[in-house]
Amino acid sequence: DPRFFKEVDEAADFVTHNLICVPLRTKEEIIGVVQGINKRDGDFTQEDLELFQSLADQIAIALDNARLYEELNEMALQLVKALSEAIEKRDSYTGGHTQRVLKVCMAISNQLGLPPEEKRQLMLAAILHDIGKVGIKDYILNKDDELTAEEFDIMRKHPLLGADILGHIKQLRSIIPAIKYHHEHYDGSGYPEGLKGEEIPFHARIIAVADTFDAMITDRPYQKGMSKEEAVEELKRNAGTQFDPQVVDAFAKALDGGDF
Ligand SMILES: [Fe+2]
Repeated sequence: DPRFFKEVDEAADFVTHNLICVPLRTKEEIIGVVQGINKRDGDFTQEDLELFQSLADQIAIALDNARLYEELNEMALQLVKALSEAIEKRDSYTGGHTQRVLKVCMAISNQLGLPPEEKRQLMLAAILHDIGKVGIKDYILNKDDELTAEEFDIMRKHPLLGADILGHIKQLRSIIPAIKYHHEHYDGSGYPEGLKGEEIPFHARIIAVADTFDAMITDRPYQKGMSKEEAVEELKRNAGTQFDPQVVDAFAKALDGGDF
């Protein structure tokens, strides 16, 4: 057969006696070829060809589905990032906050050796932890002076607002606890529910450390940010009261290791 490319056989010292080739077809295009070489007995038949093609059709469907699934996943992640951008654009001094919190959360999760699926959940929660701030009025969000008690009460609603917003997206419901409770304190003095210790979802305890760290090192109109060293000392001082000591420990190790 003049279509046979002999050079591979020659280079690999392989003898091709017979072969069968069928295209991998999706609805739109041919994405590859399936090839069978050297049937154990006899030559390939028309029946083999039909069997092979139906096998190739199944493979093409599976590959195409996997590609679509990946594209959907990618789009979901981009949407999540766009949502969090929406807050950063409104809040004048959170520029880059989400990205930094995400980075610190990932460093902590690596230090703790969390499994990949948990890391993915934590990643989404870290990106969206302050999404509820879209429901807070601009004058409170962007106020240059410290908030009054009343304004602070409104600001403290953002974890619940975030939980409400994400409640509309079935695929994101599992990350709601991490968002709803990221301002709880280990000793029960936080909000919105005053949960204590292990009652606070683990991912919320991680976000709390990363979020507070970034808030401490960021300059505010009424207050200059601390150095990283001062901030980690502050976190350690509050381990066991405000923060989960295990998380602070992992955080300090990750910082020592130069992860952020
Ligand atoms: Fe927050």
